[in-house]
Amino acid sequence: MINENTRKTIERFIRKFPCRDSALVPSLSLIQRENGYVSEADMEELAKILRLSEARIFSVASFYTILSLKPIGKYHIQVCSNVVCSLLDGYPLVDYIAKILGIREGETTPDGMFSLASVECLGSCGYAPALQINMEHYENLTYERIEEIVEMLRSGEVWK
Ligand code: FES
Repeated sequence: MINENTRKTIERFIRKFPCRDSALVPSLSLIQRENGYVSEADMEELAKILRLSEARIFSVASFYTILSLKPIGKYHIQVCSNVVCSLLDGYPLVDYIAKILGIREGETTPDGMFSLASVECLGSCGYAPALQINMEHYENLTYERIEEIVEMLRSGEVWK
C-alpha cells in the first residue's frame, strides 16, 4: 500500500519530469525503500497515480534486480554473476554465501535477516568479484571478507 507521504513524493516526481513515465523508476525505488518490496497492490496503485498501464509498471519493476516483487530480508545480498566476477570466483561466492546463511539463492533466512540473489553486472568489474547489499557495494571480495561482512551485519554493526 502506498501511504500518503509516498503518494505526495510521487506527485512531486511527476511535476519534476517532462513526462509521467520518467517518474516511474524513482517512484518504484521509493516504494521499495518504504515498504521493503513492491507488491502487486503497489503496482496497481502506482499505475493509477502515473496514469500508465499496469503492464508498463510491471515490466519496469521486474527488470531491475534492485527492486523486489516479494518480501525480502533486511539485508538483500546481490552477488554479481556476470563475466568478470564469474572468472574471479563470483559463482563459488554465491554458493559460499548460501552455505554460511543456510539458504539457497532466491531465498530469505527464516529470521528475515538476509536474502540472497545472483544478479547481472554491478558496474564494479574492475574490482571484481563484487556484490551489493541493499544500496552498498562491496568489491575485491574474498571468502574471509564475506564472512566478516555477514558477521558485522548479524551483530548489527554498520560496516563497509
Ligand atoms: S562483471 Fe561483476 S561487476 Fe561487472
